[in-house]
Amino acid sequence: MKKPVYLPFTSGQWRLSLGLKALPLKDWIQIDQEFVPYLQRKAELRQTRYAQVFGTTTGSETAQQEVLDELLHHLLHYFPDHYQLRDGVVTVLPTGDRWFLADFATAPLDLAGRLVQEDLCLLLPGRDGYTLRAASLSFPLYWQLQDKLGKAIAAIHDPVPGYAQSLQQPVNTYFDRLQDHAPGYRFNWSITDTPDLFLGHDRVNQVNPTHLTPENAGDRLWIRVERQTFRRFPQSQGVLFGIRTYLYPLAILKHYPHAAVGLTQVMQEMPPALQLYKSLLPIREVLFAYVQQSCRLDVTPVSSG
Ligand code: HEM
Repeated sequence: MKKPVYLPFTSGQWRLSLGLKALPLKDWIQIDQEFVPYLQRKAELRQTRYAQVFGTTTGSETAQQEVLDELLHHLLHYFPDHYQLRDGVVTVLPTGDRWFLADFATAPLDLAGRLVQEDLCLLLPGRDGYTLRAASLSFPLYWQLQDKLGKAIAAIHDPVPGYAQSLQQPVNTYFDRLQDHAPGYRFNWSITDTPDLFLGHDRVNQVNPTHLTPENAGDRLWIRVERQTFRRFPQSQGVLFGIRTYLYPLAILKHYPHAAVGLTQVMQEMPPALQLYKSLLPIREVLFAYVQQSCRLDVTPVSSG
């Protein structure tokens, strides 16, 4: 599949909402021309910082196995040119990787994450609602797995301004009601100043505007979009939260004038606390100037409030 262009701010409207849509099962996993570099980057990260990119909790193994079994079934069915399974060995044909299923008996989700471009987070129902029980997470956006493993969804979102008021209840209800035959998806987006897929640190190194100008912003800033999927697995009742990260240079906006205007409109509407959280405040002015000059669009920023 050709790399899709997702620019979720195009409508120009902003609301802290679920934004969930029905996901046809055939579209659950996405493979594009960056398949090999993504899998290679995952392999490098496993070598240099395994504990940061894979985590598991005791008691989640059976659910992880269910995810791996279903994922393999899906991949062999929809992407027969990419995968082979023979005598307990999975081969990823484009990279030549060969994995023995038996080596992953205690960490099946680790193998699942090695097969696809997505990151995979497994949540299981518990006393405090759904908690994060295992994850293969190579491409976090300013968070660390160790901080979140074992926590419930609400606690995971503690740093997100407005989450408790606007999203906590709807997200919990969504998880409770999610049906195994009806998965869903939504988008999240950010602007970063690096094309590195692994941003496994806090937001201490916020985007630094010092050397940014409207002339160079197109190549120095990146639109980072997460296509997030939600799928329930019937045996364990676990929910797999898939995160597929797409990166585009800001300069792509020259080809999508509606999206360029939408971005500036969304930034006018978004509360300052969330702009700060998303590291948008420091680059707000340069983003407006970039859209105005490079995309030749007439947009005027109003005060951030
Ligand atoms: C429908 C379900 C969900 C919704 C609506 C939702 C919404 C959000 C929103 C609005 C943010 C702020 C991100 C931004 O705008 O840049 C966020 C951050 C985040 N979400 Fe979710 N989320 C959902 C499910 C999950 C699940 C299942 C996990 C489990 C791993 C998760 C993990 C995170 C993390 C780790 C962050 C970053 C928090 C931080 O800064 O420490 N989310 N989420």
